[in-house]
Amino acid sequence: MTKLNWGLIGGGEGSQIGPAHRLGAGIDGLFHFAAGALDVDPAKGRAYAQSLGVAEDRAYGDWKEMLAGESKRDDKIDLVTVATPNATHFEITKAFLEGGFHVLCEKPMTMTVEEGEEIYKISKATGKQCAVNFGYSGFSLVRQMKAMIANGDIGKVRLVKAEFAHGFHADAADADNPRVRWRYDPKAAGVSAVLADAGIHALHMACFVTGQDVETISADYASTIASRELEDDAMVNFRMDGGAVGRLWTSAVAIGRMHGLTIQVFGESGGLVWQQEHPNQLYYTPLNGRTQIIERGAGDLYAEASRASRVTIGHSEGMPLAFANIYTDLAEIIRAEKEGRAADPAANLFPRAEDGLRSMASVYAATDSAKGDGRWVNAVPNILK
Ligand code: NAI
Repeated sequence: MTKLNWGLIGGGEGSQIGPAHRLGAGIDGLFHFAAGALDVDPAKGRAYAQSLGVAEDRAYGDWKEMLAGESKRDDKIDLVTVATPNATHFEITKAFLEGGFHVLCEKPMTMTVEEGEEIYKISKATGKQCAVNFGYSGFSLVRQMKAMIANGDIGKVRLVKAEFAHGFHADAADADNPRVRWRYDPKAAGVSAVLADAGIHALHMACFVTGQDVETISADYASTIASRELEDDAMVNFRMDGGAVGRLWTSAVAIGRMHGLTIQVFGESGGLVWQQEHPNQLYYTPLNGRTQIIERGAGDLYAEASRASRVTIGHSEGMPLAFANIYTDLAEIIRAEKEGRAADPAANLFPRAEDGLRSMASVYAATDSAKGDGRWVNAVPNILK
């Protein structure tokens, strides 16, 4: 199968979300990282793209150059990801859709509803995919939750409660740090801070799993740090078009909360709870019944969930990333040798032949011991004595 060509805009060196996009696009080998305009600084963006293996003529200085360059090519990118700061999403997404490209845009898709309407119209008119990265919808058990609700496993949904509360902007002494301040400045962030940044995921999740859309909203915003113009905490009540009552809490000042993305759905005949920090378990309680834990990867999940379960049952979702660290360590050691430099000492942790040998010697010693009524057996291999 030929790989699809993929391009990335934003996500430059040191960015928060760039590595996740590169991993996400690359992990199944379906996309080739063919083109990029990765940084607000053109020279840095070109250099970083090339360091990641993008060909020199496709390591662009900015997105306009990339749009022009890719439009001319026969092997143009099949999909472009827009992972720049929020205020740029609209013009970049619009330009690429109109240029005939499929787009995966970071959230929030736009800064205003009018811009959102325009993107919606353009995506319909062009027939191009315009995906939005509400990435938590990709978790296997979130899809299981959606399928269970759609299949009536908890009956008609009465109530959905969503939370996304963290405490990383709680330090009043750090509120003026430019990296934090822009998020609470309407000129840079738009009309909302924590709801548009974090709560929006929980809100999307409430709609995604229930299959209902928000109809009306009543909200209470608070700027708990007085210098902030925009809210750093919000409680949002909403009503959904299928009759469900919605409650959402989002916060950036909830000290001790890490990410806190949690979704709870209560129907007429059962309840479901899922927490992003424990993604392998979905809690299901039938009416008048006992709480059951549904494990990701268990045999009888709905097809939508099974398709999204890519590591075998019992392993954490992060397990492939632990494997990736072994590869990254090996690459650093091999590269350092080729380049005649000292390797990063922190890359020296991967298990080696000695570990392979010691572990086999332990297995042999244990087997020997088990056969000998549990007597103590020396497990150090001869060559290492
Ligand atoms: P960041 O500030 O860490 O990185 C932004 C990157 O974009 C930097 O490399 C910067 O040089 C580059 N950039 C800025 N303007 C550019 C332009 N005009 N052309 C090309 N590159 C440009 O930002 P972060 O946290 O990575 O966020 C980026 C976007 O991703 C935001 O919209 C944010 O809301 C979203 N995000 C989504 C998450 C999710 O779960 N879906 C999680 C975190 C962020």
